[in-house]
Amino acid sequence: MKQDLLTFADWTPDAMKNLLQLAVEIKQAPASYSNVLAGKSIVALFEKPSLRTRVSFDIGINKLGGHMVYLDAQSGKLAGREDAVDTAANLACWADAIVARVFSHETLETFSKAANVPVINALCDKYHPCQGLADYLTMFERFGKTEGLTMAYVGDGNNVTHSLLIVGALLGCNQVVVTPEGHEAAPEIVAQAKAIAEKTGVSIVESTELSAANGADVIYADTWLSMGDETPLEVIKEKFMPYQVNEALMEATGASYVMHCQPAHRDLEITGSLIDSDKSLLMQQAENRMHGQNAILTQLLNA
Ligand code: CP
Ligand code: NVA
Repeated sequence: MKQDLLTFADWTPDAMKNLLQLAVEIKQAPASYSNVLAGKSIVALFEKPSLRTRVSFDIGINKLGGHMVYLDAQSGKLAGREDAVDTAANLACWADAIVARVFSHETLETFSKAANVPVINALCDKYHPCQGLADYLTMFERFGKTEGLTMAYVGDGNNVTHSLLIVGALLGCNQVVVTPEGHEAAPEIVAQAKAIAEKTGVSIVESTELSAANGADVIYADTWLSMGDETPLEVIKEKFMPYQVNEALMEATGASYVMHCQPAHRDLEITGSLIDSDKSLLMQQAENRMHGQNAILTQLLNA
C-alpha cells in the first residue's frame, strides 16, 4: 500500500518522532543514505513559484541517489490542459513519486487517488507539511527536544500555521497562534490539531493579543499575503503592522529565537535586522528543508 504525505494529520506521534529522528540521522550521516533512491525518478510539479522547496528537493533527491524531473505548470493551472486525475495517472506510469505544489488541496487528493505512487505535498492552500518538519527539526537541534517547548506564530493564519500546529501537536510542542481579527487559522484545521494535542498533552492557544506569545521559546513569522492572494499590500498593511515580528516583540515575549519559512519581506512581517541577528534561525530552517524532505522520501519510497 503506497503512503502519501498530504498533511501529517493522520500520523501518530510515534511515527512523527521517528521521522524527525530519521531526518537527524540522514543529516549526520548522509553517506549511509546515498543510494536509497538509486534508480528512482521523482516528478516535482509546481503550480506556484518556489526557491527553497524546488532546489532542496532537487539537490536532496540527488544526494539520495535519485533523479528529479521538474515540471512547471506554465499556464498557472494544471486544469488548463488536462484533468488533474489524468495528469497524475500519467506521471505515475513513469515516476516513483510525485512531489506537488498546488493551489488547491483538492488537487493533491485527486493526485493521491489517481496515482499509485506516493504523493508529497510541497505546499497547498491549506498545508505546508515539509516546512513544518524542517522547522521542528530546527527547534530540536537548538533545544535538544521539541516536547514542552512553546512555538508562537504571529501573523496571518495560513498553510504554514496549519502545518506548524499539526506537526507541533504530534511532537509535544505547545502552540500559540496570534493573528489579527479575521485572519485566524482555519477552524477545522485547528480542530484537527486540538484532537492530536489532547492525546499528546499539548496546549493550543489562539488570540488576537500579542501578549499571548509571552513566555514562548520561539516566535514564528510568515508573509501577510500568501501566494495567490491578490489583496493589495496597502489594504492589509495597517491591520498587520502592529503584528510585525521585531526586536520589541522578542524583548517583550522573552523568546530565544525567531523563525520564518521564507520568502521573507524585510521590514514588513519581520524586521530585516532581526533576520540578520543571532536570534534568527531562518537559514538553519532553510537548510533543514532538504534533510527533512530526504527523511520523507526515504521513508515513503522504502516502505
Ligand atoms: N519556504 C518555502 O517553501 O520556500 P519556497 O516558496 O521558496 O519554496
Ligand atoms: N504562506 C506562504 C508560504 C510560502 C512558503 C505562501 O503560501 O505563500
